[in-house]
Amino acid sequence: MVSSSMSRVMCVSAAAGVLSSSVEQKIYVELNETVPCVRLLNATHQIGCQSSISGDTGVLHVLETESDLDWILSSGPHPPYMVIMETAFFNRSVMMRMKNSSRVAGVAVIISKTGLADNFSPHTTCPNQNTGVYSASYGSDLANCNVTAWNPLGNGLSYEDFAFPVFALKDENQTRVIRKCYEDHNLRVNGSAPQYPLCAMQLFSHMHAATDTVTCMRRTDLQNRFSINPEVLCDPLSDFNVWTSTRPLNNSAKGHAANESVVIAATRLDGRSFFWEQAPSAEGTVSGIVTLLATIQALHPVTQEAPPPHNIFFSFFQGEAFDYIGSSKMVYDMERNDFVIDLNNVHSMLEIGQVGLRSGRSLWMHSDPVSRQNKSVDIEVMQSAAAGLNLTVDQPSVSQPLPPSSFQRFLRVRGIPGLVLADHNTSFNNRYYESLYDDAENLNVTYPPDLSPDEQLVYETDAAKSLAEVATLVARSLYIQAGGDENNLNNITADPKIVSHTTSTNTHTQTPTHTNTQSQTHTHSHSHSQTHTHTLTHTQLFSYFWVSGPASLNSTGEPFCVRASVRLSKAVSPAFELLEYGSPNYSTWTESRWKSIQARIFLVASRELEMLTLGVGVAVLLLSLLVTYFISSKAELLFSSARETPTTTY
Ligand SMILES: *[C@@H]1O[C@H](CO)[C@@H](O)[C@H](O)[C@H]1NC(C)=O
Ligand SMILES: *[C@@H]1O[C@H](CO)[C@@H](O)[C@H](O)[C@H]1NC(C)=O
Ligand SMILES: *[C@@H]1O[C@H](CO)[C@@H](O)[C@H](O)[C@H]1NC(C)=O
Ligand SMILES: *[C@@H]1O[C@H](CO)[C@@H](O)[C@H](O)[C@H]1NC(C)=O
Ligand SMILES: *[C@@H]1O[C@H](CO)[C@@H](O)[C@H](O)[C@H]1NC(C)=O
Ligand SMILES: *[C@@H]1O[C@H](CO)[C@@H](O)[C@H](O)[C@H]1NC(C)=O
Ligand SMILES: *[C@@H]1O[C@H](CO)[C@@H](O)[C@H](O)[C@H]1NC(C)=O
Ligand SMILES: *[C@@H]1O[C@H](CO)[C@@H](O)[C@H](O)[C@H]1NC(C)=O
Repeated sequence: MVSSSMSRVMCVSAAAGVLSSSVEQKIYVELNETVPCVRLLNATHQIGCQSSISGDTGVLHVLETESDLDWILSSGPHPPYMVIMETAFFNRSVMMRMKNSSRVAGVAVIISKTGLADNFSPHTTCPNQNTGVYSASYGSDLANCNVTAWNPLGNGLSYEDFAFPVFALKDENQTRVIRKCYEDHNLRVNGSAPQYPLCAMQLFSHMHAATDTVTCMRRTDLQNRFSINPEVLCDPLSDFNVWTSTRPLNNSAKGHAANESVVIAATRLDGRSFFWEQAPSAEGTVSGIVTLLATIQALHPVTQEAPPPHNIFFSFFQGEAFDYIGSSKMVYDMERNDFVIDLNNVHSMLEIGQVGLRSGRSLWMHSDPVSRQNKSVDIEVMQSAAAGLNLTVDQPSVSQPLPPSSFQRFLRVRGIPGLVLADHNTSFNNRYYESLYDDAENLNVTYPPDLSPDEQLVYETDAAKSLAEVATLVARSLYIQAGGDENNLNNITADPKIVSHTTSTNTHTQTPTHTNTQSQTHTHSHSHSQTHTHTLTHTQLFSYFWVSGPASLNSTGEPFCVRASVRLSKAVSPAFELLEYGSPNYSTWTESRWKSIQARIFLVASRELEMLTLGVGVAVLLLSLLVTYFISSKAELLFSSARETPTTTY
């Protein structure tokens, strides 16, 4: 008897469970194709966005016209609003009005190309302002971008702190669902307020870390020391630099490498934007990566047949957008004899900046007016290397400082001669610097409409051809700079096909990745599109990679082994090794951890109706308690005869 009633209870609750989950599915529409803006922290500030711990909810309003702005910020009767923003409104002035209003519960930005302004850069006007070489003690009149504002279009949105969630909506179908819910329920009729039920949206992006890196790391350390179940609140941004050299270097030997003199060729590997891990950085970063990869390829035959006296060391730095994480770590390791070479091994440096060449055929060689007085790279080397190419190479005015570049981190410790190659004379040409819109289209990578993905891979776009020319120029200059014989220059030519491969598949770079549990690791996905580097062996001079073959339509993709002198080295700011979380010299950026990122829409009833529902619920509860009490107090009376009846029938 007891067991059967038990099983009946379980049965009922299981049915209730099924019922409630299917009801929930009807009420809530989950939006899974969204990207949040997350919280980052440095020594002194927090930036980014977050929701409250239980998510933020508001009535949907689509921001399409100026009058919508007024409705959201002052006249609409149902605050707080969850603002669905068209691309055209996603700018600093609108976002700052949202930030300063208590009537906004959150923002979801529709990512599309329609209505895109002709410039948009959420970065600052002076990237990495405090961690470059120019400061009160070095070229003080050049510090703080006093001479050239490199990114004049920068509106600084990525460095603001928002107290509400901001999401990007990437999927057109889901955007359509939201729009339909809004149009069905929330549209104003003849200017008067819409009636309940209304369509609402809830965004979850609660961030565990707050205030700044110093506070967050202290709290994490405390947790580690005193808690049985320590919880990490934030993680230093970290990843790997990738390096290689034309003559292999002994990776087991650290410190000064005897008889080595290297010319460093460098570029950066990362980019960022307002939203988490959405950083195409086509012109900002990929143009440099692709150029350097094609350079390495172009130099390979000649450095085997007629090796120049100096070694050429190629380095891809990670985390440069966040106050030069990768380059500062390598320089720090070189200073402490914890790297394969030290600073005395460095002959000179050539860095590749933004070379998208979107607006012409001119390149500019930037150098540092302070150290140039002592030793400099011979500018004519480059100009002679450009002979015969469809490019011109010039120098900016002699008093102009270096643009933001990894080279600045080397200059902080040693007056190494060097140049930074870029397609801009003064401020950047890139109108979408460190934004979602610095994509392949910004680089003018376009294909004829009827090409299959396989055909696109080998199609030589104009962008690929011009990057191949830049790579040829860089390869020839490096060869001369390394002391090679100028008669060999004509044997050095970059292959536009290689550039096509790398540009067509690699228009995505990410912010440096983290040890964060939520994020996936993608170390150098750009360098070899079709390689998955399961490393077999590390030896002193080479690493061996097990690589799957090209995954084209009719290929079996057979794996093979590659021997290469490609190495990874950790890119984590020395501030975290030194435990100087407030360091003014090194990057202190950390990323907060979070539990869930979620977005959903549903219908809400009016407050009055909700109150009525609640009231009725409470009344029913009270009534049932009363009935239960009545029944149990009179149980003997009510059930005694019933219990006796069956016994009598037996
Ligand atoms: C989102 O949900 C849909 C349907 O439930 C599913 O097909 C899709 O794979 C999901 N996308 C992601 C990124 O999880
Ligand atoms: C931290 O970031 C904020 C916001 O960009 C900036 O104002 C501040 O100068 C940074 N602090 C340091 C120590 O770089
Ligand atoms: C959107 O929906 C259409 C039709 O339902 C489908 O064909 C298309 O693949 C969907 N697009 C995405 C990006 O999910
Ligand atoms: C809007 O107002 C106009 C004129 O006042 C009226 O003719 C029309 O029916 C109204 N529309 C709705 C949907 O109420
Ligand atoms: C590499 O360096 C290590 C440590 O100095 C040394 O023992 C080893 O012999 C070197 N290997 C080669 C191939 O030079
Ligand atoms: C230039 O050389 C002078 C004299 O050797 C030295 O004092 C100075 O620090 C050097 N400047 C730089 C920027 O290397
Ligand atoms: C972009 O590419 C198209 C087609 O190749 C070309 O006509 C156009 O001039 C290019 N624009 C720029 C700015 O390079
Ligand atoms: C793959 O396709 C190309 C052309 O589409 C053809 O030339 C080649 O022979 C094919 N390879 C194999 C292994 O079938």
